[in-house]
Amino acid sequence: MHNAAFKTLGLNWRYLAFEVDPKRLRAAIEGARAMNFAGLNLTVPHKLLAFKMVDQLDKSAKLFGAVNTIKFEKVGGKIRTIGFNTDADAIVLSIREELKLKLSGARVLLLGAGGAGRTAALKLASERVAELFLINRTRSKAEQIAREITKRFPGVSVSTLYPKSNVDLILNATSLGLKPGDPSPLDEKQFSLRQAHAVYDMIYRPAQTRLLATAKKAGCKTANGIGMLLQQGAKAFEIWTGKPAPLNVMRKALERNVYGD
Ligand code: ATR
Repeated sequence: MHNAAFKTLGLNWRYLAFEVDPKRLRAAIEGARAMNFAGLNLTVPHKLLAFKMVDQLDKSAKLFGAVNTIKFEKVGGKIRTIGFNTDADAIVLSIREELKLKLSGARVLLLGAGGAGRTAALKLASERVAELFLINRTRSKAEQIAREITKRFPGVSVSTLYPKSNVDLILNATSLGLKPGDPSPLDEKQFSLRQAHAVYDMIYRPAQTRLLATAKKAGCKTANGIGMLLQQGAKAFEIWTGKPAPLNVMRKALERNVYGD
């Protein structure tokens, strides 16, 4: 999607993938700086490690404790590294765009309390959802996030139990659904999909998880995580180039790469 966007904007830039041993991450960032790279994207497990390796942290990275985008910026003959997090904004942009959902005041059931779940929970709280229900196999992790939210966003009501009445959104941030035989991350004995207006699954491969298929049948609005992948990329593109991202071009290229023609 980035290379398609560079081409559209007539930029002689290239987006390349490198596999880096976490032990060599600092050296890799220094190497990119020495080679005048414009920026980097990082994925697991580098997002947490890079947090301590950049010269400056943008507030998006500070809030979520993770860096998925680095910008190399020339200041007075030196090149500084600035760390950003574009994942969190992407969750909200994608939910708004694909599900046409207003998050402020909403009731949200969030499944998963790993890295993605924590980022989603904090971002939703910062968007002033009214109520958050955090469900996770390891309950203590959900409880820890609940405590963090209560401290940082006291206006948001948080529970680690399934809701007793309807919700506006169910958001899956677990990895359940990635593999063909995976069970649904939602315990339907505890909460029926008929009580949800919309369901967003962060998984985008397969395009339709078991959760999304059942949600569709139950009459929910549904969306998968491809929009989130697109939006985090578009944000990073704008940070590096300072130009608006050509979203449609990026979406087409992304879908072609992920799902084929
Ligand atoms: P990510 O960075 O994608 O969030 P992660 O931090 O490993 O990855 O989190 C994976 C999430 O999926 C966690 O919420 C995990 O639950 P635990 O915290 O209990 O490990 C959840 N998950 C993974 N496999 C699961 C399974 N078989 N059943 C239920 N939840 C599962």
